[in-house]
Amino acid sequence: MAKIIAVGIQKGGDGKTTFACNLAMAAVEAGYKTALIDLDSQGNAGVTLSGNPDMHHIKESGAQQIYEVDDPVFAETDSGVFLLHGHSWLEEIDFREDVDLESLNLRSKVRNLPFDYVIIDTPPSSGPRQLAALFWSDLVIAPVKPQRFSIIGLGKLLQQIKLARRKNAGLAFRVVINQFISSSTEQNQFVTELHESLPSNIMKVFRSRVPVSDMLARGLPVWAYKKDKKLGQEWYEFCIEVLNLVK
Ligand SMILES: Nc1ncnc2c1ncn2[C@@H]1O[C@H](COP(=O)(O)OP(=O)(O)O)[C@@H](O)[C@H]1O
Ligand SMILES: [Mg+2]
Repeated sequence: MAKIIAVGIQKGGDGKTTFACNLAMAAVEAGYKTALIDLDSQGNAGVTLSGNPDMHHIKESGAQQIYEVDDPVFAETDSGVFLLHGHSWLEEIDFREDVDLESLNLRSKVRNLPFDYVIIDTPPSSGPRQLAALFWSDLVIAPVKPQRFSIIGLGKLLQQIKLARRKNAGLAFRVVINQFISSSTEQNQFVTELHESLPSNIMKVFRSRVPVSDMLARGLPVWAYKKDKKLGQEWYEFCIEVLNLVK
């Protein structure tokens, strides 16, 4: 049975796609057969892993297959990650009749996909596709910037997790503080507050570092950046730690 990890927060730009792609690429590097399902209609993870800048305009072979066909066909990407990409038409899923019940019933199908790990990138808002990911997953990782609106987004995610746990009691939850700017007094305060309010959920604080976004823009993990081996190692080790949480 596949281990399923969702990356989510009710906020855009905090690092969902960055962590989803790095987690998936770390799993491949560690020798695991790995898939990424991009449930975000922006389709950034699919664009990143496929290297096709127009991937989010293509409906065929996208993540709607989970809902629409018995045996979804994943595309093999150069990164080694098998992909069900995201695109604008994924929003049609939200209007399916009894979609939350349908998502819940798809749980065993997703968990029986022929992979060791399935990483799910999710939309930046509450809704049927985020709830689906929470129903299917063993673990949800929330990347959060130490900023007010991100913390509000984290609160909304926590409400959805509470809801999802009624049907998926084993859903674990961890936070990674991301894009921390250490010179900001306000951000330092938020980091402290987050540690105080979620002492056992916060795994790590990652600073804002240009190579993280530069590598992702090229479809590569952070550890492909050879000029700062320590940075790459930090990201790879974190990803492995996350994968091991659900092993
Ligand atoms: N630690 C980091 N340092 C620098 N840039 C980052 C970091 N984490 C994410 N980014 C960049 O921030 C932007 C938003 O991240 P992204 O993963 O796309 O967020 P989301 O999927 O939650 O909307 C991207 O350009 C990404 O490369
Ligand atoms: Mg994204």
